[in-house]
Amino acid sequence: IVGVTISRVINDVDVINNLLSQGLVSIVGDLAIVVGIVVVMLSLSPRLALLALSVVPLMVLATAVFTRHARVAFRETREKIGAVVGDLAENIGGVRVIQAFAQEATTHEHFEQMNRENRDAHVAAVALASAFTPVVDLLGMVATGIVLWIGGRAAAEGELTIGVVVAFLAYVGQLFQPIRDLSQVYATLQSAMAGGERVLELLDSPVEVADTPDAIELQQLEGRVELRDVWLSYRGAEPALRGVSLTIEPGQVVALVGPTGAGKTSIASVVARFYDVTQGAVLIDGHDVRKLKQRSLRRFMGIVPQDPFLFSASIADNIRFGRPEASDAEVREAARLANLDEFVQSLPEGYDTLVQEGGVNLSVGQRQLICIARVALAQPRLLILDEATSSVDTLTEALIQEALARLLVGRTCIVIAHRLSTVRRADRIYVVQGGRIVEEGSHEELLDRGGLYRELYEKQFG
Ligand SMILES: Nc1ncnc2c1ncn2[C@@H]1O[C@H](COP(=O)(O)OP(=O)(O)O)[C@@H](O)[C@H]1O
Ligand SMILES: [Mg+2]
Repeated sequence: IVGVTISRVINDVDVINNLLSQGLVSIVGDLAIVVGIVVVMLSLSPRLALLALSVVPLMVLATAVFTRHARVAFRETREKIGAVVGDLAENIGGVRVIQAFAQEATTHEHFEQMNRENRDAHVAAVALASAFTPVVDLLGMVATGIVLWIGGRAAAEGELTIGVVVAFLAYVGQLFQPIRDLSQVYATLQSAMAGGERVLELLDSPVEVADTPDAIELQQLEGRVELRDVWLSYRGAEPALRGVSLTIEPGQVVALVGPTGAGKTSIASVVARFYDVTQGAVLIDGHDVRKLKQRSLRRFMGIVPQDPFLFSASIADNIRFGRPEASDAEVREAARLANLDEFVQSLPEGYDTLVQEGGVNLSVGQRQLICIARVALAQPRLLILDEATSSVDTLTEALIQEALARLLVGRTCIVIAHRLSTVRRADRIYVVQGGRIVEEGSHEELLDRGGLYRELYEKQFG
């Protein structure tokens, strides 16, 4: 999807640019010439003019046929180039997986296939556009023939002077040059329309979560979170959440545990309002999140995602991301809180070390610590933490746990927990399964109950 979207933004906008910069400029001049010549021809000899212009309906017909096929062909080219760019982006992103499974040859073959289809689509479209011009030319010659034949006979019979016939021949010759140019522009227009359709589609794609006009600005946040019978379906799919209700008091640390696909991340997503609930409501400090300005809500919210995302910038800038005005000292303080300072100091370039695209020059644990420092700097009232399931080494694990212990103090936290130490630290644990909360309580209470929590606990930590 990323590659295809980028292709739309770059390639499809480019064909529109071609039309506007090269095509449209000549249209006005061409049209003026055509109109002028037609007027002069009609005034010289209406009969001969109408005969010469009798090819025009044929031209309209040819254009109509061309349009129908060209639109399809150009649409095809837009789709194919999008597929090529999409495939390329995916292959670059997934290069390690491709290598690991030794699928270079098949991936290469697939990419070649995409390119062949792209080439064929372009050849077909260009062939069609090229066939159109000779047809226009041919009709132009037919018009010249008509003038020679009918005009010649009229001149021989003395109805018209030789001068008028010669003038007509020159005019007809000149008339079809701009018409030819216009047909060229018309072909460009077809291509631009095919691109334009896709750009518009992109522009028209609905904003999934939008501020209502009367959305209110949240001035401060206490940190009370309440979910009332929340249902969530992703784009009409089976509901991922089926009636989740829970209340988190300000300053409480709540852990969500449960099997993969249970709906834990979905709960976090509706609280952050990345998705609007399908039914029910999410209230923050008693306000329905749909009535709050998203920016004002997220200003008080910090999120450490399961897959820590870093930008291609220095470590300092990555930490500073949530609060760009923070000073170097504050950045270091946040890093210290996140147990990151020592590691960064050990790097030759310290905080100026550049993070490569996707953070490939850092370990997952280090990336997560940077994300924790980023949140620590922003000092959110409400913290959502999706613990990484991927195992980090015991030392980094200890560093992360220590950093979290500091970070969780004094703020409302929702932690999707995979580690026992985090679970234990929670004031309350919710066990999620099949989009519902099936158990809740403290660690001891849940162990005593002997339900799903105990089962998970024994499997994971026992
Ligand atoms: N963005 C999404 N689009 C469509 N379906 C999704 C999306 N995110 C999650 N789901 C589906 O919702 C269900 C719950 O997923 P999730 O909340 O990520 O579970 P968990 O975090 O507990 O592993 C799963 O069945 C998953 O396939
Ligand atoms: Mg998840």
